[in-house]
Amino acid sequence: MTNWKIGVIGFGNIAQALIGGLLKVQAIDPEQVFVCAAHVDKLRMNAEKYGVHACQDAEEVIEKSDVVILAVKPYQMEKVVTPLKSLLKDKIVVSVASGWMFDRFEGLLEKGTHHISTSPNTPVAVAEGIIIVEDKHSLSDDEFSHLIQLFEQVALVEILDIDHMGIAGTLSGATPAYAAMFIEALGDAGVKHGLTRASAYRLASQMLAGTGKLYLEHQNHPGAMKDAVCSPGGITIVGVEALEQNGFRYAVMSAINACQSKKAG
Ligand SMILES: NC(=O)c1ccc[n+]([C@@H]2O[C@H](COP(=O)([O-])OP(=O)(O)OC[C@H]3O[C@@H](n4cnc5c(N)ncnc54)[C@H](OP(=O)(O)O)[C@@H]3O)[C@@H](O)[C@H]2O)c1
Repeated sequence: MTNWKIGVIGFGNIAQALIGGLLKVQAIDPEQVFVCAAHVDKLRMNAEKYGVHACQDAEEVIEKSDVVILAVKPYQMEKVVTPLKSLLKDKIVVSVASGWMFDRFEGLLEKGTHHISTSPNTPVAVAEGIIIVEDKHSLSDDEFSHLIQLFEQVALVEILDIDHMGIAGTLSGATPAYAAMFIEALGDAGVKHGLTRASAYRLASQMLAGTGKLYLEHQNHPGAMKDAVCSPGGITIVGVEALEQNGFRYAVMSAINACQSKKAG
């Protein structure tokens, strides 16, 4: 368990997923966590859910913490952080905001602030997440390795340069939405053919989790994994053909292209 006191500015979806995951695997204790958000009533409810400290404001969070996670929406970052710059100077600042990389923070934070930019995805909540970490940062070697060790308890950690942060963030951060749509679609198909919805969702979800794990453990080519399920003249290959007729892979690539275009625009 880390000794760090962890502050969170913006206790929304991703911050709750990350803190929830770290608590679940007992990498941190609720007593070590100090959070704030815009709406006090909602914050109190959310803080109570995890047993963490709800603070009056960001100043109190920073004062009580060694590490401060910035988890507000990207467009709010400048407005929220500007009045806090001098307080953040002596802390370890960890951003999870999309599009806020090291160089952009250098223009916002005070010179010499120890900071790093990351991008977690929501499965960190069940310690099966991904956290993309920018390789350019101003943490000390000890701070950096301690942070990575902490993150590794809830995620596969991928350290990348700025040119690959955007696409990696899309591939890991946006795609849980598409995976959920795939589960929903399989659920609908299962229901159409007589399964209960609960059973269909359970099967579809475990199939996705298990297939991912199979790749990570054996690292066989995804095409070979597909071939291993398709017997000659069998049932599965008929489904592969139907997916291809409907542009399955093109639809997936188009979704990622659309995300990247939106990020660039
Ligand atoms: N969701 C994801 O899967 C994901 C993945 C990777 C990265 N991210 C990044 O994580 C960040 C947060 O995203 P999210 O999805 O978690 O958004 P969210 O659920 O809307 O959370 C944003 C949080 O910021 C709080 N907030 C707003 N203004 C504030 C202020 N002035 N001071 C303190 N807190 C303030 C909000 O409080 P109220 O709720 O009270 O309004 C809310 O708790 C974004 O920068 C996003 O790019 C998200």
